[in-house]
Amino acid sequence: MNSKISNICCIGAGYVGGPSMAVFANKLPNINITVVDLNKERISDWNNKDLEKLPIYEPGLSEIVRKTRNKNLFFSTELKQNIAKADIIFISVNTPTKTSGFGAGKASDLRWIESCTRTVAEFAKGHTVVVEKSTIPVRTAEIIKNLLNSYLKKESVNSNKKTFSILSNPEFLAEGNAIKDLESPDRILIGGEDETSIKILKNLYTNWVPENKIICTNLWSSELSKLVANAFLAQRVSSINSISSICECTGADIQEVSKAIGTDSRIGEKFLSPSPGFGGSCFKKDILNLIYLCNFYGLDQVSNYWEGVLKINEWQKKRISQIIVEKLFGTLYGKKIGVLGFSFKANTNDTRESPAIDIVTDLLEEKAKISIFDPKVTKDSIDNELKNALFKLKSRNMHNIENSELKNWNYCEDINEVFNNADALIFLTEWEEFKSIDWEKVSSLMRYPAWIFDCRSIINIDKASKYGLNVWSLGKSK
Ligand code: UDX
Ligand code: UDX
Repeated sequence: MNSKISNICCIGAGYVGGPSMAVFANKLPNINITVVDLNKERISDWNNKDLEKLPIYEPGLSEIVRKTRNKNLFFSTELKQNIAKADIIFISVNTPTKTSGFGAGKASDLRWIESCTRTVAEFAKGHTVVVEKSTIPVRTAEIIKNLLNSYLKKESVNSNKKTFSILSNPEFLAEGNAIKDLESPDRILIGGEDETSIKILKNLYTNWVPENKIICTNLWSSELSKLVANAFLAQRVSSINSISSICECTGADIQEVSKAIGTDSRIGEKFLSPSPGFGGSCFKKDILNLIYLCNFYGLDQVSNYWEGVLKINEWQKKRISQIIVEKLFGTLYGKKIGVLGFSFKANTNDTRESPAIDIVTDLLEEKAKISIFDPKVTKDSIDNELKNALFKLKSRNMHNIENSELKNWNYCEDINEVFNNADALIFLTEWEEFKSIDWEKVSSLMRYPAWIFDCRSIINIDKASKYGLNVWSLGKSK
């Protein structure tokens, strides 16, 4: 096996594939890296001369793309030829939750993993290391291995000399912080059976990651660890969110509680911020995967335990919607509500599973008129998310919302449009610029009695209250 790596191909130019390969290209200037994707528009956005128009917003990403693009980083729709010349192929395609058939609502839909693997099997040449980067159910590597081997059996008749080894190398980057996470990861996890291939991948990473941060395990431990890491992180968010409700009832303050418990080094201070619920493409999907796995092995108590994390998350969103309705005299009919932030967290334009989707849908159902401002999310993304949410409600016969009501929202290019005549403002994402809002000006534009709902602990309550604004803050009793 040749351990000299000249060409890397990554299938999937999404939030994981794009930034990961940009950092790889920057750290590995002597290796050519091509990110391929079926989606022509996405690839053309990655190739856009205007770096403001990259398909993904991620702090620091455009600078790296500027440095590396068309030098040793390429974005292409040419799958076959890039697979053929690659020494290593990263599979970074999406693995959403199945919506129909066996395991619907829990299991991952592996159709894209399978189709990519088939293409790899057909067009790869010589020895190829195939690396799972996508978060996938445990034992997916087995499926990939079986598929690749079945091609090899067929092709051995033609005495073709191709060979494969499979590694699992899950990505732990958090959106909004992706570049930092990729440049200085807490750890790199490599799972595999073939020592030589593990070493090849490890040697790539040691160009910028200290060796003691690279953990090598068997394939299944690596696959499971990714699911478990996300489940533990999500569990922390649900834990602190559950406590936010007790704080509101008892007079305790969630910020003070977070600080008090986080200083215990066994607990740690990170991931203790209360929120309207966790979002993003991974947490819910990965916990559902874990639940599916537990059910499959008859571990119902374990699956019930993890299901609790998801239930609290749904409850948190619903309870915030209910509080808004209660505070506004039980009716939102015709009231103007400003929503600040639609992405699932700050510093990303990603809206997948954002708590804003459910909360805005609830408010539309209450017949409010919604104005939405987000510094990075486009109008089209919000439109798609709200349409999908309605479609899901309709398919479960749970909707009480007309198509016309779904149109009761508008997109604000300028943050000031949100404030004009608003009865309430709801802060759903912790964008830095929301922290320096001029409350004197805002209060002069709103209709009184005016409410501020701070779901991310970013509002200076004293300053806002000075102008007669009513402030409700998540996890505080005032
Ligand atoms: C996705 C998964 O959500 C995550 O669990 C996994 O760890 C990595 O892949 P992300 O990069 O955020 O994460 O997904 P997405 O932004 O949807 O990107 C996937 C890309 O793969 C899309 O651009 C899609 O067009 C592309 N794709 C999908 C292919 O190129 N070929 C396919 O067969 C399927
Ligand atoms: C997560 C994991 O952190 C990452 O390791 C994995 O690779 C992918 O999934 P991501 O979803 O991008 O990353 O962002 P993360 O920072 O983990 O936030 C997830 C959600 O939890 C967001 O909606 C965020 O607002 C919420 N959150 C996070 C809280 O509500 N409170 C917190 O204290 C931290």
